Formats: sequence, C-alpha cells, structure tokens
Amino acid sequence: MGSELIYRGHETQPTPDTYSPKPHKPWVSVIRPIRYMLREQRLVFVLVGIAIATLVFSLLPSSSNNHDYTPISDSHFPTESTQLTHRFFYQGHGGYGSMNLGGKVPLGLKRKGLRIVVTGGAGFVGSHLVDRLIARGDSVIVVDNFFTGRKENVMHHFGNPRFELIRHDVVEPLLLEVDQIYHLACPASPVHYKFNPTNVVGTLNMLGLAKRVGARFLLTSTSEVYGDPLQHPQVETYWGNVNPIGVRSCYDEGKRTAETLTMDYHRGAGVEVRIARIFNTYGPRMCIDDGRVVSNFVAQALRKEPLTVYGDGKQTRSFQYVSDLVEGLMRLMEGEHVGPFNLGNPGEFTMLELAQVVQETIDPNAKIEFKPNTEDDPHKRKPDITRAKDLLGWEPKVSLRKGLPLMVTDFRQRIFGDHKEDGGATASTTMSSN
Ligand SMILES: NC(=O)c1ccc[n+]([C@@H]2O[C@H](COP(=O)([O-])OP(=O)(O)OC[C@H]3O[C@@H](n4cnc5c(N)ncnc54)[C@H](O)[C@@H]3O)[C@@H](O)[C@H]2O)c1
Repeated sequence: MGSELIYRGHETQPTPDTYSPKPHKPWVSVIRPIRYMLREQRLVFVLVGIAIATLVFSLLPSSSNNHDYTPISDSHFPTESTQLTHRFFYQGHGGYGSMNLGGKVPLGLKRKGLRIVVTGGAGFVGSHLVDRLIARGDSVIVVDNFFTGRKENVMHHFGNPRFELIRHDVVEPLLLEVDQIYHLACPASPVHYKFNPTNVVGTLNMLGLAKRVGARFLLTSTSEVYGDPLQHPQVETYWGNVNPIGVRSCYDEGKRTAETLTMDYHRGAGVEVRIARIFNTYGPRMCIDDGRVVSNFVAQALRKEPLTVYGDGKQTRSFQYVSDLVEGLMRLMEGEHVGPFNLGNPGEFTMLELAQVVQETIDPNAKIEFKPNTEDDPHKRKPDITRAKDLLGWEPKVSLRKGLPLMVTDFRQRIFGDHKEDGGATASTTMSSN
C-alpha cells in the first residue's frame, strides 16, 4: 500500500520534457472568462445586479434611521448620578442615526442593529414595542409564556430572520447573548396578576442575565407603586401609599421589589438599568375582558352591554395611547438616565367621563351600571411627567378621543370577526380602574 502511494506520487511529478498535445497558452486563462462574460449580455446582468445591490444597501439602513427622535440632553440627573460608562452616546441631531455604539461601530460605517430581548413581547405593550424595534433594524428575541399574550400579536414577524420567539417562563433562568433587555413579562391586569409571582423572580432572572452578558436592562414598573397616593399628581420622588397585604399587593409590592432589585443590581453589580413607571395605557391588541377599565368599557359597549362603573365613578385615571408609551420606553432605553420616569398621559378623567367618551365613540345609548368598588382601588392617578419632558424630551401626543377609535376598530374585529377570541360570551371579570 505504502509503496503504491509512493509510486503514484512519482508518476504525477511534472517533468520538463513531458509530451503535451496542446501547447501551454497562459493568455487563454485570461481571455476565456472575459469572452464568457461578453456572451449573451452576461456583463450587463452583472452590472445591473451590482447597481441594485448598491442601491438597496445604501437605502436600507437609512430608512431604519428615519425615526423622529430628538437626542437626549446631557444634563445630569440629580438622584441617579451614576459612575457607569454608558455604551450609547448621542452626537448632534438625528437620534438613532447619529448614535455611536461606544466604539463598537467604526466611524463611517452604518449603525449595526442591536440584539434585543423583549420579555412579554407577545403581550399588548410588548408587541407594539417589537414592531418599532424591528422597523428600526434591530434583531428581536421575544420571550413569552403566553399567559396573557398571544402569538397573533407578533405573527406578522414570523419568517423575518431578525425575529425570534421563545416560549419560556421568566421565573426560570435563561441565557441569551443580547445588547438590551426590555423586561415587560408580567400579567398586568387584576384578573391575571393575582395568580402569578412573575414580578420578583422573573425580574431577578432577567437582571442576572443582564449582568452576565453586559446588557442594558429596562424595567417596566407601574404607577401602582404609588398605591392610593396621598400626593397629586404623582412625582417620581413620591414614595407611595401601598397596602402591603391587600389583594393588589402582589402586583404593587411585586413591582416595588422589582424596582429595588433593579437599583441593587445597578449599584452593586454595575448593571446599566432604566426604570419606567407606566400609567394606564390602552390601544389595539389589549386583552379583551381582562378587567382593565378601558378594554372593559369598549368591549361592553360593542356588545351592547351596560358599562360597569365601580364605586361612584369619580375616581380618576389618566389614559395613554400605546404608541406614546413605546416612544417613551425607547427614548428611556437609549438615553443617559436611569430613572424612574413616569410615562403616562397627564390628561385626567373620572371613570364616568371615560364612560362618556366611550359612549360618544361607540354607542351614545350605552347604559351605565354601578357596582361596589374593588378593595384598595386608588382614588386618584395622574402622572407628573416633568422629568420625562426635561430629560427624555418626551411627552404623549395622542389624546383619548383620537386613540380610542383606533382601539375600537381592533376590538370590533376581534370580537365580531374572530369568535375564537371570546367564544361569543362575556367572561365574568373583576374590573378595576386600572
Ligand atoms: N398596560 C398598562 O396599562 C400598564 C400599566 C403599568 C405597567 N404596565 C407594565 O407593562 C408590562 C406589559 O404590560 P401589558 O399591558 O402589555 O400586559 P400583557 O398582559 O398584555 O403583557 C404581558 C406579557 O407578559 C407575558 N408573561 C406574563 N408572565 C410571564 C412569565 N412568567 N414569563 C414569560 N412571559 C410572561 C404574557 O404572556 C404577556 O404576553 C407589564 O410589566 C406591566 O406591569 C402596563
């Protein structure tokens, strides 16, 4: 065997006087590909291809940078004077387009999309956030256990290579290589949150992930941390008035603990964090029949049922349209400031006024029915958003009268067009002014 190999090796050795029927023509190897290209207009096709590719690559990234963001001022944030190095800086005007990723992207190159996890991304707020991040050119991984979220909310991204969906409960640890974590996973309505301990354990796991991979972490906290507030409107420096043992405390205190954990990871482990305190938000893709006041009124009016007002209906809330919230969350994530920031619409409505707007929008003849109020339902809720205005350059743009019809269109389609959603029956729910 060995000798056979040696023999063949010798046979292939080139020798200067080997006979070759064709004389060696070095210029043929150059001319042949040129002739090949010139035949059947191949060259024209190649040139057109190059032109199209150049056009696409030069247009695509700029279209994802077209969002109307104002860069955040460099002004210091008195309460959260962090010594951490920020990976994101804004240079001049133009928002994301002018963002320099801390030296990761060499000057002159287009901004590279980030890898972002959105926990709870199949839910109401999360799915709208995912839409914006994908549109911006980022790669998004949604982590959701579908407790209250729906695949339908993100289905339009299936097949997009920049989108991934993982069915996972955040109370279990998870390892992913990402740049940013938007942590939304948590049942947000009174009907659901009583059954789920997501807030503390889930937040702990996601903070652990942020620490491990060096990702920036944004917590979606809530106005519920102010409890039944003794200060009105609520400023971020107000510490709240929360019943620690009431039926709502798993949510209220859960979010307060989540804020504490977030700040501890920031101070103790150097994790870059952001905290948003979200006030009542409404819009398309909200869970129908989940006990939140706007979705309940809209669903009831569409089904020709009386609108249920709990208590005397004089308790107030502010209602923010979902696109305003998503804009605020993204500005907070990309900005320099830890927070907490109130993100809400300061327009204040009593429950009866809200019912009236729903009547005007859907059915002027809709009746109102009064029922006893739920335990610990806050009397007043209105955000002071001065801090978000000053430091994030953010304020809500969509009024209730403009936003409500957009939500009604979606609810109408889901209630009457998709019978799988509600089975044609009204679920009996505990309603609150949330
Ligand atoms: N919508 C509001 O008015 C409002 C107000 C204040 C705070 N928030 C906060 O914003 C976030 C999003 O709220 P939303 O209104 O979109 O609620 P949602 O219920 O529509 O979305 C929550 C999502 O989290 C998922 N989820 C729940 N538990 C999970 C778990 N253990 N593991 C993985 N996924 C889980 C759900 O399936 C759902 O997709 C929540 O953290 C909520 O507390 C919302």
